[in-house]
Amino acid sequence: MAGFEIRPARTEEYDAYWRARAAAEGFEPSADGIAHWRHLLDLDRTLCALDGAAIVGTAADVPFRLTIPGGEIAAAGVTLVGVLPTHRRRGILRELMRRQLRDAHERGDPVAILYASEALIYPRFGYGVASFDGWAAIERDRAVFRDPSEPVGQTRLVPLGDAANVLPPIYDRVRAVTTGMLSRTPAWWVHHRLRDLPHDRQGGGPKFCAVWESDGEAAYALYRVHDKWDEFIPANPLEVIEVIATSPLAQREIWRFVFGIDLIRTINAGFLALDHPLTLLLAEPRRLRFTVNDGLWLRLVDIAAALSARRYAADAAIVFEVVDTFCDWDAGRWQLESQASRGQATRTTRQSDLRLTSERLASAYLGGISFARLARAGWVEEVTPGAVARADMMFRIDHAPWCAEVF
Ligand SMILES: CC(C)(COP(=O)(O)OP(=O)(O)OC[C@H]1O[C@@H](n2cnc3c(N)ncnc32)[C@H](O)[C@@H]1OP(=O)(O)O)[C@@H](O)C(=O)NCCC(=O)NCCS
Repeated sequence: MAGFEIRPARTEEYDAYWRARAAAEGFEPSADGIAHWRHLLDLDRTLCALDGAAIVGTAADVPFRLTIPGGEIAAAGVTLVGVLPTHRRRGILRELMRRQLRDAHERGDPVAILYASEALIYPRFGYGVASFDGWAAIERDRAVFRDPSEPVGQTRLVPLGDAANVLPPIYDRVRAVTTGMLSRTPAWWVHHRLRDLPHDRQGGGPKFCAVWESDGEAAYALYRVHDKWDEFIPANPLEVIEVIATSPLAQREIWRFVFGIDLIRTINAGFLALDHPLTLLLAEPRRLRFTVNDGLWLRLVDIAAALSARRYAADAAIVFEVVDTFCDWDAGRWQLESQASRGQATRTTRQSDLRLTSERLASAYLGGISFARLARAGWVEEVTPGAVARADMMFRIDHAPWCAEVF
């Protein structure tokens, strides 16, 4: 790739950066949207590829804290990736990715994370799928709990303007114990999660926020209604944007609220945990029409730091031989030893137990994809017999990793 400078966008280039990013996906950015994103982006963490003075490629990353088993780590949240249709397949994305991962490594971020527009794009750069998202579409008249129960607690509608104060404590309680969830700054709440520009509504109504509380437990639902009538019969779809609940009771009661909203024919919910309790709670789980997509993609930027940061379910030791052709500093043999559930990863010359690419180790990192599953796909070579089972004893967690939102 010759002739394309890669560097952060300058303040005076911010609009042009956005126009290039939007043109790569074929839409026109709204002035409001650009203004909101200005609160979320540190320009030093943007990248553009320039053809002369023209921006032809873009990328950025947002500093998140990612919940991992037993704690949280800094994660570079990769977003706003695009290359103009006039400049595709000339290696610009590859160079953006190379620079971005080098910067993340120098900063000391143990991992980078993203949502992929297409699953084909990122494995070549060492990203592995690390969580899955469930999508549900249920007819409201079939949304019935299997075990009848009386409603508990109280649900109230909270104006979006107040939600930035009410929702974060609920979200943070769940985030602290849910591997895969991301921290949200006050700016992220206001300018991203609660942003409600007409441009973003896709024909639907405004974002509503319902909050349920009882006895120290809480839940909220963000949703909007799309207007649809079928020969004077209400057929509105309800779009669930996010539901967060601090306990099983809170979960049941907030969904009871959602299922009870009038004039709705179908309830559509995305970004649900793969092991979401609704798949058990409903009288007819099949009616959820639960489908699964790849969710969070993760790249190990600093293997030793990432492996040493998480907790493990069993005390044992294992040597990984990691193949990494994109970030060569991560390639080679790493010994992971866990004592009292704390991990310590160091370079080693010992014989390897498991041989795999960095992408596949990234898929196993959060505990959502077992080494046995990777092995069944032929994606890990068991050099020492029993090493797959040993690694699974260590990496196992008690719930599916879940990231509640795309960024
Ligand atoms: C995806 C996109 C950024 C790729 O940019 P690009 O500069 O053309 O990519 P590169 O030339 O650096 O390609 C690097 C490699 O990825 C492959 N690749 C790139 N985009 C791909 C795609 N959409 N599907 C499959 N493979 C893809 C290339 O074939 C190339 O493979 P190789 O290394 O084996 O030769 C660009 O096509 C785009 O802007 N798409 C629309 C917006 C979008 O989807 N952005 C991603 C948001 S998550």
